[in-house]
This record gives sequence, C-alpha cells and structure tokens, in this order.
Amino acid sequence: MTIALPQRRLSDFAEDFLEGLSRTPKTLPAKYFYDEAGSELFEEICRLPEYYPTRVETALLKAHAAEMARLAGPNAVLVELGAGALRKVEILLDALEAPRAYVPVDISGPFLHDRARQLRQNRPSLLVEPVEADFTAEFFWPASSSAAERIGFFPGSTIGNFTPQEASHFLKRLRPHLSALLIGVDLVKNPAVLHAAYNDSQNITAAFNKNILARANRELETSFDLSAFDHYAFYHPFHQRIEMHLVSRKAQNVFVLGRDIRFHSGESIHTENSYKYTLDGFQTLAMSCGFVPVKSWTDAEQRFSLHWLEAEPKA
Ligand SMILES: C[S@@+](CC[C@H](N)C(=O)[O-])C[C@H]1O[C@@H](n2cnc3c(N)ncnc32)[C@H](O)[C@@H]1O
Repeated sequence: MTIALPQRRLSDFAEDFLEGLSRTPKTLPAKYFYDEAGSELFEEICRLPEYYPTRVETALLKAHAAEMARLAGPNAVLVELGAGALRKVEILLDALEAPRAYVPVDISGPFLHDRARQLRQNRPSLLVEPVEADFTAEFFWPASSSAAERIGFFPGSTIGNFTPQEASHFLKRLRPHLSALLIGVDLVKNPAVLHAAYNDSQNITAAFNKNILARANRELETSFDLSAFDHYAFYHPFHQRIEMHLVSRKAQNVFVLGRDIRFHSGESIHTENSYKYTLDGFQTLAMSCGFVPVKSWTDAEQRFSLHWLEAEPKA
C-alpha cells in the first residue's frame, strides 16, 4: 500500500522567489522587502537626510491637513494602503472631524499589528481595524463600512512601485470601494537628487535591498552571502523610474528550494522600480481610472505631490 504524503504548500514568498530567480533577467517583487526587518529598515530610510520624499510629504500633510479634513467631511472611515509605521496618518487623524474608524492595510503582518496596538493605546476612542493583506490581490474590505464612507490614503509614493499599467489596473480596482483617495506621488526631477535618495551615504538603502536575500536565508533556508551582491540603484530617464538591482560580484551557485540557481559574475536581480510622475501625467492616469482630480498640493521645488481624487460613481 502506498501512502500519499500531504504535499507541503510553499508560501507565496517561496513560490515567487524561486520563480523570479529562474527567469532571465532575474526579478523579484518589491513587496517581499517587507518582513519585520524590512519594515524597520524602511523606517530608517525615512529618517535619512537624502530621502526627501518622507520629509516633503509630511510637510505637505501638515500644511494642508485642515483642507484635506474639510474635503473628507465628518465620520470618515480612513483606509490606508501600505500603512507602514502609521506615522503620516497621525497628522490626518488630528485634523479629521470625528473619524469613525482607521483601517491600516499592510503585507508586513507583525509590524502592522504592533503599530496598530500602539495607535490604539494613544487614541483609545478611535476604532483601529488592521488588515494584514497583499493589496495586489483581492482582500476583504471591512464590512462595517460602505464605499461611500471610505477615504483611501496611499502615501509614500508606493504607487510608483507599480508600472504605469499595473498602477492603472490597481486604481481601477480600488475605485468602487472608495469615495475619495488621497495619494502621495513622487515627481520627476533632477536625476542627481533621485540618485542620492536611493544611494545614501549610510548604506541603509543597500541593507534594505539586500533584505530580500536575508529574508530568504531566514525563511527559505537559503545561504546567500550578502557580501557577494552589490546594491545598484539608478535613474532611467526614458522610463522615468529608479531601478534597484542586486548585482552578483562573482559567478556563484545558490541552492534555493531544491534548485541550483546560477549567477554569472555581474548578473543582476531587478528588485524594485520606483516610477516618478509629472503632475499632469499622474492626473491623466487617475482620470483614465475613473477618478476626478479635485486638488493637488506640491512643495515650492515640486519634489513631491499629494492628490485628492474623488471616485466617480459608475454611470
Ligand atoms: C514605501 S513603504 C511606505 C510606507 C508608509 N505608507 C509611508 O508613506 O512611509 C510601502 C509600504 O507598503 C507595504 N506594501 C508593499 N507592498 C504591499 C502589498 N503588495 N500589499 C500590502 N502592503 C504592501 C509595505 O509593507 C510598506 O509598509
């Protein structure tokens, strides 16, 4: 008699990691940077002097929170996509009139739940309903609110991690679930400023980039030698995007989930894109997805933008 042993299902990370490294060129989805260690490293990036997006977006939120709160109206249910450390939202929560609930959505589960616990302690009267989910897949919107009550908040230019086609698909999927969306978008600018932001002098961005391999060592029992890969980030003006890569310093083989993955000397793993938009370019994209641009805010040097988009009701 043969006994069928149950097949252990690989995690999404394991499946996508193996699939991405089996391709030519090798690519890995940026969402896998964010385990607990990756979320902590991103927090460090936000404090770097070279990383202007966090500073500029935070200043824009502070300067215009009252106007944003007027647009949102009373009793809003705020749904933050890719909520991270739940810092920027504090500015909005202070300004909103009697927000009914706050729903932070993030793929980085333990980090999300820890930050949500802290927020509940600081704001005991606010209903905080964290959702651990991959927002590129279908996820459950809280049944306790309707689309008409929900305001989406999507800061940090996380939209830039999608190609414009993926961004369009994502925004079209979001629209029926929201009444409005406040979204942060990094702008096209001098490539030297962009280059510095992704090549900081303390090498924190390099550690963040390598965390995808460190995470594989922790979760998939691989043995990547992190010192055998270089962090390489550059601005590609034609595509209007920063590309992040990990470049193998030598020919090497790494055993990944039963497969021998070969790296040539100088071969790269493409780990992230961060697309930059013009103000008009982003508004055109938003309109093609059924959103009406109501207001945008930007800094004097036009480094970063925030957009208030209303979701067009379906005809
Ligand atoms: C660039 S960080 C921005 C963090 C924060 N919102 C900010 O503005 O500083 C991207 C955030 O989105 C989350 N994230 C990335 N991909 C995701 C996905 N597919 N589903 C859910 N969350 C995701 C990450 O865990 C991280 O917290």
